[in-house]
Amino acid sequence: MPKLAITGKGGVGKTTLAALLAHLYAQEGRTVLAIDADPDANLASALGFPEELVEAIVPIAELQDLIAERTGAQPGTFGGMFKLNPRVDDIPDRYAVSHQGVKLLTLGTIDHGGSGCICPESTLLRALMQHLVIRRSEAIIMDMEAGLEHLGRATAGSMDAFIVVVEPGQRSIQTAKSVRRLASDIGVDRVYVVGNKTRSESDRAFILDNLPGDEILGFLSYSPLAIEADLQGKAIFEMDPGIVQQARLIKDKLAFMAEEE
Ligand SMILES: Nc1ncnc2c1ncn2[C@@H]1O[C@H](COP(=O)(O)OP(=O)(O)OP(=O)(O)O)[C@@H](O)[C@H]1O
Ligand SMILES: [Mg+2]
Repeated sequence: MPKLAITGKGGVGKTTLAALLAHLYAQEGRTVLAIDADPDANLASALGFPEELVEAIVPIAELQDLIAERTGAQPGTFGGMFKLNPRVDDIPDRYAVSHQGVKLLTLGTIDHGGSGCICPESTLLRALMQHLVIRRSEAIIMDMEAGLEHLGRATAGSMDAFIVVVEPGQRSIQTAKSVRRLASDIGVDRVYVVGNKTRSESDRAFILDNLPGDEILGFLSYSPLAIEADLQGKAIFEMDPGIVQQARLIKDKLAFMAEEE
């Protein structure tokens, strides 16, 4: 079962790709656990969850009683004593919400300023992420913010691949390069790239010229329907069959790369 973390510069299409891949794996009949690890969570909407469900979601980081119960300390406290290995194995099934074959767990804000934070909520979330990646048997698709810092070595090292989304432009390419450096620092060697919002062959050539070709899984074209889906609060895969087909090629390439190793 693939365990993928999707990252990249703000606004490049991480959540869009996460939703497309989650949808495709679910269509294959796999059980899929999508994890929203972006503090500014919006994967539920991208997956087409109905509004009532989206509004009812409380991120794990905000479940004060749960955090206190599991770590033995109140969230927001620093320093004091708390458990460093809180029980987390029941959390995915208790708190995930499901829609169209995709289970979704929303984590919330992991670090309050600085990657070195040791506080009850970040301890619980790190333990949870590690558990998800190492122990769960579903396909895992993690929608992340740009940094990898909050992932922790054990979690990052157990992912099958990091996918960095880029768009035609120097800035997201720079982010992709820094993700690659960070990944190799923490022992992750499989970092792949998806080019998004490409409008032409020259957009795709730009990305190919700026990043090693063997890392590129494929491209998603610029799609006005992606914007329309966002406007209507619908899933992109309900609106744009063309982009679903492009995402399918990306998924197949990923499976091929995994077999190569
Ligand atoms: N292929 C595409 N064509 C056109 N618009 C797109 C495409 N992919 C994504 N978008 C639009 O770009 C915006 C940002 O996409 P998305 O939310 O997936 O990016 P993100 O990287 O998750 O952003 P954030 O950093 O804010 O989490 C959305 O309005 C989305 O509809
Ligand atoms: Mg996003």
